[in-house]
Amino acid sequence: MLVKYERIDELGVITISNPPVNALSHGVRSGILEAVKQAQADDSKAIVILCEGRTFVAGADISEFGKPIQEPSLPQVNAAIEASVKPVIAAIHGTALGGGFELTLSCHYRCAVPSAFVGLPEVTLGLLPGAGGTQRVPRLIGVKAALDMMTSGEKVPADRARDLGLIDRVLEGDLPEAALDYARDCVAGGLGVRRIRDMQIPVDSGDEQTLDAYRKQLSKRKRGQEAPQRIVDCVETALNKPFDEGLAFERAQFVECTQSGQSAALRHLFFAERQALKVRNLNPDASAREISRVGIIGAGTMGGGIAMAFANAGIPVTLLELNQDGLDRGLALIAKNYGRTVTRGKLSASEASSRQALITGSTNYEDLGAVDLVIEAVFESMDVKKQVFRRLDEVCRTGAILATNTSYLDVNEIAAATSRPEDVVGLHFFSPANIMRLLEVVQAEHTADDVIVTAMALGKRIRKVPVLAGVCYGFIGNRMLRQYAKEAQLCMIEGAAPDQIDGALTDFGMAMGPLAVGDLAGLDIGYKARQALTDEQKGDPRTYCIADALVEMGRLGQKTGAGYYRYDPETRARSFDPEVLEVIRCEAERHGVVQRTLNNEEILDRHILALVNEGFRILEEGIAQRPGDIDLVYVHGYGFPSYRGGPMFYASQRGLDVVCQRLEALADQSGERYWEPAPLLKQLVDQGQSLDDWMNSQR
Ligand code: 3HC
Ligand code: NAI
Repeated sequence: MLVKYERIDELGVITISNPPVNALSHGVRSGILEAVKQAQADDSKAIVILCEGRTFVAGADISEFGKPIQEPSLPQVNAAIEASVKPVIAAIHGTALGGGFELTLSCHYRCAVPSAFVGLPEVTLGLLPGAGGTQRVPRLIGVKAALDMMTSGEKVPADRARDLGLIDRVLEGDLPEAALDYARDCVAGGLGVRRIRDMQIPVDSGDEQTLDAYRKQLSKRKRGQEAPQRIVDCVETALNKPFDEGLAFERAQFVECTQSGQSAALRHLFFAERQALKVRNLNPDASAREISRVGIIGAGTMGGGIAMAFANAGIPVTLLELNQDGLDRGLALIAKNYGRTVTRGKLSASEASSRQALITGSTNYEDLGAVDLVIEAVFESMDVKKQVFRRLDEVCRTGAILATNTSYLDVNEIAAATSRPEDVVGLHFFSPANIMRLLEVVQAEHTADDVIVTAMALGKRIRKVPVLAGVCYGFIGNRMLRQYAKEAQLCMIEGAAPDQIDGALTDFGMAMGPLAVGDLAGLDIGYKARQALTDEQKGDPRTYCIADALVEMGRLGQKTGAGYYRYDPETRARSFDPEVLEVIRCEAERHGVVQRTLNNEEILDRHILALVNEGFRILEEGIAQRPGDIDLVYVHGYGFPSYRGGPMFYASQRGLDVVCQRLEALADQSGERYWEPAPLLKQLVDQGQSLDDWMNSQR
């Protein structure tokens, strides 16, 4: 039974029970409607809606989108609740999200336990609130606050929700008793029905100018995304039209969104994120080891960020450096970063200082004797890393997990430096590690199953998106990035200017273009790495000669005010630099490249299809478990537009046959073998199969 109706003295109580998150499936919608009808007919004085299990309703059932809507629709259910002749009270615990929160907005009163959150996260799925949210929330809290809430998708904690006016009461005590007491108070106080549809949007809470400013801001902040702009259109309708017209407009917009490619892509990522946690072929009895204290070696760029990621999740950290100077520098940088978060208003000063207090510095390995996990983030050198792991093997307790944050090095070789390779794993964070959500969990040859289970669970606990990767040069992300970065160099030497290349990719939706990223990271990093390689290891000189030439001119990127671009010393604003074109031209001449005009379509295809083709190789080698895992890596680690679903989803949408033909054409045009379609791609096209078919055949 998904929905139960019972009488508890003068109250009619509707209980929803649809584990795990009480999503509003067709059965739940029908059940609520039935229960509301039943409650109208008896002599109950008020109706309470609550949920069993870990949460209130977390929204519409996402798996139903894209299929025909089965009645009753959620707006129909909400209309029946709102029309109730006796007051209806929603009692929230866990999270009331999306359609779940909209359900509560059709109730006449809302109460919540202190740990609850409410929110309208539809925008993160390429949707807008489609069951009255865009019409009711502005009436409740005003235009500006409603837009903030709906275009960010933010989850609002109970006390703030009450202060904003989204809920009426934060309860003391547990559900259901506390909610039933509140309902009895409502009855005793003579509180009748109170319908948001009858309220007016607070005057001075926003007007047409507010909406215009919002549209402009969103076109930058949510570049390329359709749903946020449609949310503004719906709020505009709420301002200017009667409630029912607003509802109809909202619904039409919502249905269009559910059929859009953007929403399909974002829904794909929602499910991919949850799938990624399910690692295949592990011993089903393997359970997570307990992690209550973490050690980090190296307080540089990565070590500091990783320490913050743990402290932000309430996990104490011991941060170890070579010497006191290095440690002081690292801790000072962490303090500065927390300070900046406070200045920007993202964290209170007291919260920042309690998080910072969870990070203790040390220069003594003995201090790591009791930690449950150590993450090494020292220089990218096999010798240094082996030394560190030998030392960790001496000092760490039995059962502690030893992890490396290496970007490229062989985790098997690092593990072999210890007497316990089964406890060694790669935990590859992305910079800045306190912000970037991707975490590649690298499974080495001997990594124990329970270490993988622990790493995946821990990744979720520190609010990352953990993705399993196998051992190879660069794992999933950096291995693909090499192909992408190579195309940027080749397009440049063949005649495309840096701003044309970056522009083609940012127009596609990438957060930054590859050359602007190079300038940000510093061109000297790759240059130094190449110095250690033989000419043969370095490969085709056309793929690095321009970068080398710029470094040798002292153009190391943003930090020296010039790289592929020139940077304003004050504002860091980037501008085109003709000097760079001259460098490119000279290098082309030196390497016998005849320059030509490249169009944006070619530039885009060469970059994105380079990712796709390498993605197929990674899949067939078993380096990634699923196409969706590769998509998560690119969206959360490399700025691929989420509304395109990641490179593998993009390839599927474009058509694997079309992608294959385009790769063959690139191979013909360039004479380069690396453009030949990956065998797995070719096989799927030849057999007329999709990536989903292939995934199903792997089970
Ligand atoms: N529909 C269908 N399945 C859902 C779902 C939903 N709305 N929300 C979660 N699930 C599934 C997950 O896929 C997962 O399935 P699995 O166990 O098979 O992998 C399971 O429920 C548990 O989910 P999580 O692993 O995410 O559980 P957490 O406890 O970590 O998080 C949560 C719970 C915060 C509720 C999180 O699941 C969440 O954010 N869910 C989505 C909320 C959302 O976006 N709601 C809006 C939907 S759109 C809408 O309502 C339209 C409306 O305006 C008409
Ligand atoms: P970094 O140079 O900023 O920091 C390294 C720190 O390690 C320095 O502070 C150094 O003093 C310390 N260190 C060196 N040897 C040590 C030892 N034996 N014991 C204790 N501390 C020691 O380097 P960064 O950028 O933080 O990189 C660290 C690791 O993370 C590398 O393996 C790198 O490949 C990887 N990585 C780097 C990313 C980046 O964007 N910078 C992204 C992801 C991974």
